[in-house]
Amino acid sequence: MTTVNTSLLDAFNRHINAEFYSSYLYLSMSTYCDSIDLPGFAHWMRVQSEEEYTHAMKFIDYLEDRDSRVSLLPIEQPPIEFDSVEDVMRQTLAHEQHVTGLINDLYGAATNAGDYATQIMLQWFVTEQIEEEKTARDVIAALEMVKGRSDALLLLDREMGARPAASPIATDTATTA
Ligand code: FEO
Repeated sequence: MTTVNTSLLDAFNRHINAEFYSSYLYLSMSTYCDSIDLPGFAHWMRVQSEEEYTHAMKFIDYLEDRDSRVSLLPIEQPPIEFDSVEDVMRQTLAHEQHVTGLINDLYGAATNAGDYATQIMLQWFVTEQIEEEKTARDVIAALEMVKGRSDALLLLDREMGARPAASPIATDTATTA
């Protein structure tokens, strides 16, 4: 298997940066949720942040398996303040929709490069993005249902706090995890 071509490698490096930014963004959201006394949402966002880190690592493992050199780019500062937990979840959905677009662009670049292995590897992410968007939409719907009822919000927060930890990174072969 040959290394990935230069323009595809550039796109990969930018995408790895976007996954690390996602991790940073969700960690920032987690600290915000903690600051407004929603520990369950804070936990959920921290798990989300860890999951984004594993996404970045899947890309890194894949490029290393392809004998291609990864370049880590600077990570932009995420927003620190949010209007409410609803605002957090709406920004999460918007961000995931943005990431879906980036994955699709990467798939397009792999197709243009005739890189079939990368197209297959990206299929996991294409499916994952459907799940990521659905989850954010479901939480927004739940928040709309509990609007104005602090007792119900407390229960929802408890439910969010039950999210299991992100799967550990399977080193080297993580692209199939
Ligand atoms: Fe790595 Fe939430 O997409």
